[in-house]
Order: sequence, then structure tokens, then C-alpha cells
Amino acid sequence: MDQQKRPIVEALEAFQAADPVSFHVPGHKTGRLSGLPDGLRAAMRYDATELTGLDDLHAPIGAIREAEELLADAYGADCSFLLVNGSTAGNLAMVRAVCTPGDVLLVQRNAHKSVFHAVELAGAQAVFLNPEWDGMTCTAGAVSVDTVREALDRHPEAKGIFVTYPTYYGTAGETLSDIISCAHGHGIPVLADEAHGAHLLAGPPFPPSALALGADAVVQSAHKTLSAMTQGSFLHVNSSLVDADRIARGLSMLQTSSPSYVLLASLDDARARIAAYSEADKHAFLEWRRQFIDRCRKLAKLDIIEPDDPLKVLVRHKHVSGYALQQALEQQGIYTELADERQVLFILPLLTEGADYPAERVASALAKAIRTLESEDEEKKPEPGPALPADRPAIRISGGPAGSPSEWVPVDEAAGRSAAGAIIPYPPGIPLILEDEPLSGETIDTVCRMAASGAAFQGAVRTSDGRVEFEVKTEQGGDGNG
Ligand SMILES: Cc1ncc(COP(=O)(O)O)c(C=O)c1O
Repeated sequence: MDQQKRPIVEALEAFQAADPVSFHVPGHKTGRLSGLPDGLRAAMRYDATELTGLDDLHAPIGAIREAEELLADAYGADCSFLLVNGSTAGNLAMVRAVCTPGDVLLVQRNAHKSVFHAVELAGAQAVFLNPEWDGMTCTAGAVSVDTVREALDRHPEAKGIFVTYPTYYGTAGETLSDIISCAHGHGIPVLADEAHGAHLLAGPPFPPSALALGADAVVQSAHKTLSAMTQGSFLHVNSSLVDADRIARGLSMLQTSSPSYVLLASLDDARARIAAYSEADKHAFLEWRRQFIDRCRKLAKLDIIEPDDPLKVLVRHKHVSGYALQQALEQQGIYTELADERQVLFILPLLTEGADYPAERVASALAKAIRTLESEDEEKKPEPGPALPADRPAIRISGGPAGSPSEWVPVDEAAGRSAAGAIIPYPPGIPLILEDEPLSGETIDTVCRMAASGAAFQGAVRTSDGRVEFEVKTEQGGDGNG
């Protein structure tokens, strides 16, 4: 197929060229009734709806269908879907397509919160697969094949395996191919959250994509590593073990009935760009990256870590936490993807040949940031523990009754109580503990330590004025405030 074609972009441009007068939604009437600044209002000309010639995301027969066929062709999938509600919607749809209520799904424990929500909404039961510790990024990494085999021995009734590949920090590991063989040996599919891997299509030295390794359904946040707008994702199905019709039905329930055409056009364009990504483009990116890393390595007090995925780079300061380094960088106008106790994560630009990006400015901002941190106490950096409780056995979601009463308690009253919801450092959005899991002393210490060094949380923990409180299930006979 001609991967240079962008049918949605072309349909939108053709529609606009006729200078149409709007008597339809949206109410901003191609931007005329909007009070937004000009730059924002300009894009509203293209903020159309399902008008003649513009097709329908939920029943595509025209430009959107052609764009999805081009997408499947580019990634080598049986069929592909454009998503306007992020990989979140894709994860929900994949799990719903494979599990009915009561079914067991094997789930890599260091998954994004949307995967836990997917299991909950499907009424399924998750059997968690503990990941291996990745010494390079100092985060939870891939799952070992032995862990998968053991889980399948104990749960032969499992309907599928859900993996995250690569991780937020760029760890791919080397086990996915064997995990897929193992799953297929049991006749069950592997669903892959490749939210951070839409660019792996570019080929080595990027790790192989989950689709190339044989995963049955794969979701990718095209907005994270490709040029699509925020919320734009891809979902691919490449196997008869996953019913594409069930995916389509799920997506029609889970996604808005008013998809943004600007977003759809950006997905169409992102697919065309990655399909056209050449060896020369890759060379330009790798050369820029090399210079960027070389400059950073010249700076004292920094360690530069290169994960499996070359699009990610971790920067550690020898004496201060990642949060402090991130803050110092922001004061120099440099905004990074996330920080944790150890490090800051940079997502590099997937540059094409001839494209420019300010490597020199970042290096000098880093140098300035380091100088501003010089007055800090050199011994201050805490020795962080693992972000997920270590050595857990595989466990099931216990799933207490929905809406059961809860209360907020201070740190010294939390130990041993059941969490009323997940506790999720954000980003990266990987729950530290899940609803109904007991708050151990170790977990409480981890949350307090992370909060003290600047972590933000979602869910059953709140931090203000240096105080940490946990939302716990009300014990029988207690005074819950729901
Ligand atoms: C691993 C992973 N999966 C899924 C998601 C959700 O993706 P989206 O923001 O596209 O809904 C994220 C978001 O950060 C993620 O990191």
C-alpha cells in the first residue's frame, strides 16, 4: 500500500477547501465563535464531525477505514484501530475481548493502572506475575519465562497473558518471545501494552516490537513516542486468538461517540511518518542522541543510563534525588518526562534527517541546573528502595465489595489496614499497592519516603503540609465516612 497517503488528512483538507458553512456540532462553528487565541483557533477549522465524506470511527467505510488499513499494513497486523481515548481505552478493550466475568488473566504486576481497571471492569480475576528487578534502570522490568510457566501450571484455566513491553523506563528484556511461545503452547493469547513502543517499527537498535515477536493484540500510545496528538493511540490485532469484532464492539462502548478529527488526522500523519522512517532518519536520530549523551557525560556529578530503548535516557545526579534534579531543570526551561527518587527520565525526539533539536541548550541547562544544586547537602540523596514491594508471591485481586466504607487515617494508624483504593505514584502510573491489599510497614515507609522526596500520588493516599494520610477500608464497627 502507498504509505505516503494520509486519507483522513486529505479528506479534512478537501472538506475545508470548499469553505463549508456549519449548521452542525461542534458549537464553535469552525472556530468562529471561539475566544481562544489565534494559534489555537486556527486548528478548530479542522475540528469537524461525522459529515459527508469524513466517515465514522465506529463504523468506518471511507477515509477512516482506509487509514486503518494503511495502519495495519505499516505494522504488519491483521487489522488495526485508531484510538482517540488513549492506550487506556485500548487496554480496556483488549482485556474485555479476552475475558468474561470470572475468567483468570495473568497480568504482569508492574502494569499501568488502566490494566487493573480493565480487569475490574471485565469482572475478571488477575493472577499477578512479579517482574524481575532491572538493575540498569533500577525499576521493575520484564517478567521471567519461569514465572509465566509456573503461573500457567497453577492456573491452566487462564484466558490470556497481559504484558507491558517495553516498560515506561525503556526496559524490553529478552523474555517476551519465549513468553509468547509459552502462551501459544497453551492456546492463549498475549496482550501487550506497548504504550511506549509505537516507534519500535523503526527497527534495530530499537528493540523488536511486540507484534514482530508474535503478540496477539498490541496497544501503542502513538502520542507518547510518535508525532500524534495527546490521546491518540493504535490498537493492532494479529491473531485468531483475539476476536477483532469483540475489540471493535468494546471500543465503540469505551470511546467517545464524538471523536476529534484533528486527533484522527494526527494519527494518520504519525502512521505515515513512522512508515516512512528511513535508515538515514535513524542515523540522524542516533547521531543527535550520541552527541546529547556525550555532552551530558562531560558534566561532573551526573550518571547517564542508556536503557534497552534508545529513545529513553536516564540522568542521575550523584547527590540529589531525581525530583530535585527535575525541578532544577524546569527552572532552566527543560521539562522531562518523569522523575523518581534516583533519576530523571528523558524521552528523546525521534528525529528525522535534517530536523533540528536543541541538544546544546539542554546540555548547558543541565550544567546550570547542576550549579544551582551545588549548595545542596552532598550526602542528602536517600538510598531508594524498590518502587514495588519485593518478593511478593503471585496473588489474586481480592476485590472487596465495591463502594465499601472507607476512612482517611494518619500514618501511625495505617499499618495492617486494607487500602480503600490503589496507591499510584504518578507518573509512571504503576500502582504500588492495589485496593484491598494490606498496608504493610514497608509500603507505608516507601510512600512516606517517596512523598518526602517529592513524588506525587493518585488514589488512596494524600499528602499535604508534609503530612501523609491513607484511605483505608473501615473496619467492622468503625465510623466510615465512605
Ligand atoms: C505503560 C502504559 N500503559 C498505558 C498508558 C495509558 O496510555 P494513554 O495515556 O495513551 O491512555 C500509559 C500512560 O502513561 C502507560 O505508561
